[in-house]
Amino acid sequence: GAPVEADISKLEPGQRITVEWRGKPIWLVHRTEQNLSDLETLRDVLADPDSEMPQQPDYCKNATRSIKPEILVAIGICTHLGCSPTYRPDVAPEDLGAEWKGGFFCPCHGSKFDLAARVYKGVPAPTNLVIPPHKYLSDTLIVVG
Ligand code: FES
Repeated sequence: GAPVEADISKLEPGQRITVEWRGKPIWLVHRTEQNLSDLETLRDVLADPDSEMPQQPDYCKNATRSIKPEILVAIGICTHLGCSPTYRPDVAPEDLGAEWKGGFFCPCHGSKFDLAARVYKGVPAPTNLVIPPHKYLSDTLIVVG
């Protein structure tokens, strides 16, 4: 499949857009400053907080799993059986509990991922969500693929 461009110039903090690449949904999320500081507090509830497993390019093997800290680019397909998780940026909602700091929830079998697309412990999904190969053509133009 051909690479796809994503214009994030209108993507406000807290928002997500989706583009399609190779038939897959690619999420682009503009994380807030609060989101970024929350990521550091979740280590104990995550299965692979340091991205030791190979679900990201080397240039995204870092604390935010991204090139720019505020922008997450991830493939929106659950690593369990392939459902598409829902974007749940809300903090401590009734259904996801007090430890929830925003992320992605898979309705199929209840897997949970944080806003760096890292999988929680104790859910069916075995790994973090996949970060696709991508790069910045400018400050606000990303090419995926
Ligand atoms: Fe997402 Fe099973 S497909 S939890």
